[in-house]
Amino acid sequence: MNALPQNKDMQDKYYIGYYDGERLIAVMDLIMDFPDETTAFIGFFMTDVSIQNTGIGSGIIEDLCVCLAKIGISKVRLGWVKDNPQAEHF
Ligand SMILES: CC(C)(COP(=O)(O)OP(=O)(O)OC[C@H]1O[C@@H](n2cnc3c(N)ncnc32)[C@H](O)[C@@H]1OP(=O)(O)O)[C@@H](O)C(=O)NCCC(=O)NCCS
Repeated sequence: MNALPQNKDMQDKYYIGYYDGERLIAVMDLIMDFPDETTAFIGFFMTDVSIQNTGIGSGIIEDLCVCLAKIGISKVRLGWVKDNPQAEHF
């Protein structure tokens, strides 16, 4: 929860929980302006197994991209665990 790329500090980082009512359904680690000023970096994104493959993950990312575009972020980079085909496909 505290991991950061080099030359970034906690002001650049958002560790976000997405809720359906009281229930946590997704978690995202977002680093702003990395590796450059027009890119946001998602170091970690996971949806709860009970709602996976229902379009919610795609919806969260689409909403995020719309919001980021409004503040001048034109690219989003996603990190995933190598050899995880589900994550790579996503
Ligand atoms: C990868 C993940 C974030 C996608 O979120 P999601 O809410 O399931 O995403 P969606 O339902 O919007 O599906 C997105 C795509 O992933 C595919 N997908 C989701 N779950 C899948 C599964 N279990 N097996 C195969 N494909 C799957 C969907 O078919 C869809 O593909 P499409 O766009 O070609 O139709 C989520 O499944 C997850 O957290 N997985 C486990 C953790 C993980 O691997 N995290 C690393 C991601 S960087």
